[in-house]
Amino acid sequence: MFILKKIGCRAFQLAFRAVLPILPYREPRVISSCAELDGVFKEENTKSVLVVTDAGIVKNGLLSPLEDTLKKSGVRYCVYDRTQPNPTVENVEDALQIYREHECDTLIAIGGGSSMDCAKAIGARAVYPKKSLESMGGILRVLRRLPTLIAIPTTAGTGSETTLAAVITDSEKHRKYALMSFPLIPRYAVLDAELTYTLPPHLTSTTGMDALTHAVEAYVGRSTTKETRALALEATKLVFDNVERAYANGTDREARENMLLAAYKAGIAFSKSYVGYIHAVAHAIGGRYGTPHGLANAVVMPYVLSAYGKSASKKLRDLGVAAGVCTKDEDPDEGARRFIDAIRELNWNMAIPSKLTGIRKEDIPEMAFHAEKEANPLYPVPKLMTKDELETFYYQVGGIECAQ
Ligand SMILES: NC(=O)c1ccc[n+]([C@@H]2O[C@H](COP(=O)([O-])OP(=O)(O)OC[C@H]3O[C@@H](n4cnc5c(N)ncnc54)[C@H](O)[C@@H]3O)[C@@H](O)[C@H]2O)c1
Ligand SMILES: [Fe+2]
Repeated sequence: MFILKKIGCRAFQLAFRAVLPILPYREPRVISSCAELDGVFKEENTKSVLVVTDAGIVKNGLLSPLEDTLKKSGVRYCVYDRTQPNPTVENVEDALQIYREHECDTLIAIGGGSSMDCAKAIGARAVYPKKSLESMGGILRVLRRLPTLIAIPTTAGTGSETTLAAVITDSEKHRKYALMSFPLIPRYAVLDAELTYTLPPHLTSTTGMDALTHAVEAYVGRSTTKETRALALEATKLVFDNVERAYANGTDREARENMLLAAYKAGIAFSKSYVGYIHAVAHAIGGRYGTPHGLANAVVMPYVLSAYGKSASKKLRDLGVAAGVCTKDEDPDEGARRFIDAIRELNWNMAIPSKLTGIRKEDIPEMAFHAEKEANPLYPVPKLMTKDELETFYYQVGGIECAQ
């Protein structure tokens, strides 16, 4: 990378780091079941709710406890259940129309990151009727207060219930982009492990690896605080101790609870300390091919971490200690190697492949272009990389011979 660009990226990141303590972060109020929402509706004087979800959640009967509470509380509601995995601009606009038609004042997202992000974006559009979603992409572009937003995660991965991000797919341009603004942090989060019991093994594994990716990227980045480092280490330990248990037995209450906690903690960590090239590379794959977010992250993670080399080895060793795969007096390079191997092993044990099929060589330059644009200068990665360097990851992940 040109030296001037490097200096520019690092200066931008330093400026953000300096203002970190004064930025208006907040956490949602956490409640433990849908039944408790009755009190929230009274407190917020809720009149009309748009429930944002997807077909899988409805099919699995996960809406019932929420609908029971809404009915018992006498709150009017309607349901938008057409959110797609990797929610699109069209999803948001369709749901917004329903929100307006029913004069809603509250959004409740029940589902994975897709439903939660869709609801966040609906809220942003509701308060900025003249702005397009695309124009609100990037950092700190949404400043107005959103309608009351309640997030009920049914996957343990994205942490969207506590993050400032909403990731939206532009299906025409085949790209994903993130809105990152404080008003997008939900006001309430319902963390109820029972809602994740029906999550099938292949989604338990990949969404769990998304949570791990948040923790790892937040920790190895250069904008950490004491708090985010501690949260990232705790989340890493929780994932290593619980994800395989939840994968093997969906109704293991303790494992499910711990995975929800891991996703939540990692969500706070990366909201304050950002993600890195794993997410940037994975988002471009998701935007182009619709690959599930957690799967793309899980596959990309070992390649990017290996490429960071010495710039991240000490921190990766720390994460290895939290994961229980090395000791703190281990040589950093060896510790990092062990941690990356442990991630590969976790993937292997949960049938996550080491490569992705379907990546087309001709798409690689454009995906690398989007990844570079997403990450530089915003993400405080341990080692800055150019578009050409990022291209290498797509060759590796796709198992395609590199021309260079
Ligand atoms: N906002 C953020 O901070 C943030 C962070 C990371 C990722 N994301 C975004 O979140 C999206 C991915 O979210 P996700 O990984 O949670 O998956 P998802 O919301 O896309 O859901 C995936 C599938 O799982 C099903 N599902 C969810 N919960 C279930 C349950 N309990 N039982 C049975 N089926 C269930 C859904 O019906 C859906 O078919 C991506 O668009 C990604 O970019 C957002
Ligand atoms: Fe993620």
